[in-house]
Amino acid sequence: MHHPRSVREADVAGKRALVRVDFNVPLEDGRVADDTRIRAALPTIQLLLDGGAERVRLCSHLGRPKGEDPAFSLKPVEAHLRTLLEDERVAVLENTRFHSGETANDAGYARELAEGSDLYVNDAFGSAHRAHASTEAVAHVLPAYAGLLLEKELEELGALLESPEHPFVAVLGGAKVEDKIGVLESLVQRADAVLVGGKMAEEVEPREKVVLPSDVVAAAAFEADAESKVASADAVPEGWVGLDIGPETRAAFAREIAAARTVFWNGPMGVFEWPRFAEGTAAVARAVAEADAHTVVGGGDSVRAIDELELEDRIDWVSTGGGASLELLEGKDLPGVLAIPEA
Ligand code: 3PG
Ligand code: MG
Repeated sequence: MHHPRSVREADVAGKRALVRVDFNVPLEDGRVADDTRIRAALPTIQLLLDGGAERVRLCSHLGRPKGEDPAFSLKPVEAHLRTLLEDERVAVLENTRFHSGETANDAGYARELAEGSDLYVNDAFGSAHRAHASTEAVAHVLPAYAGLLLEKELEELGALLESPEHPFVAVLGGAKVEDKIGVLESLVQRADAVLVGGKMAEEVEPREKVVLPSDVVAAAAFEADAESKVASADAVPEGWVGLDIGPETRAAFAREIAAARTVFWNGPMGVFEWPRFAEGTAAVARAVAEADAHTVVGGGDSVRAIDELELEDRIDWVSTGGGASLELLEGKDLPGVLAIPEA
């Protein structure tokens, strides 16, 4: 693995820092609906301020706007940041994706971003799998360093790849199956068991180490209030759909998790936004929280489940990365990390 040099090694006194953060946070009615990623960036910002940086300019993308679009402005995020940290040396630039050069990883746009800064710090783990101007090209323009969050994420997820304590149990779920086949392959090599639930379970063939649901909560339609019943996984009635793992599977998954020394979980076990199909995801969340193991949870939906059940204090590491954490666990190099020189 590539070990980028740390911002802790940088001499920042009197310097102007450009910091790439991942402020791609959900907005509701023009306000920040979840500030986890904003709070996660605070230690690096504070480190730079405490080190005497003259200026700290924060840049991030937000959503996937097509050109400049006020609905994707970072202004509400900046306003929220100011409630958490007040320092006139800190500024938040506008959404990097307002420029077409961002996703094109354009060197010209990277130079524009870098103008007026002496060093670059990447603390945007959630975007480190993107080779974009603000995550990749700019690291070749300014002296580049890894922020504290990026470092901690690499340490936590890297440990799962390189030195997990066994038994290592991984739990994979969710609907974006194409994104997860690669990580399943990687985890089958490294883990002692991979428990698969959610839509993913329908796409995966039985094989060694892979534990598939034995029962599901089947529904007559893909609807929150559809008629439903518990069915054996191989006996879902014609035309019905599995919307959650069943009670036998929940118990079996919980037993595997309880016996683990290391657990990684990504993706819900069913349609947990609908209370009648949330129990499988909740059962996994509780089992992970109770495990006497080193536990890591990544991915927006599983993190939201942990959050709703107020279990975050009982998880050792809740990753701010979805796609980035999966690509890392697949064994891929992340362009935003590779662009930073090693120590
Ligand atoms: C995320 O939330 O997954 C990251 O911020 C990356 O966003 P993107 O998928 O739009 O590149
Ligand atoms: Mg623990």
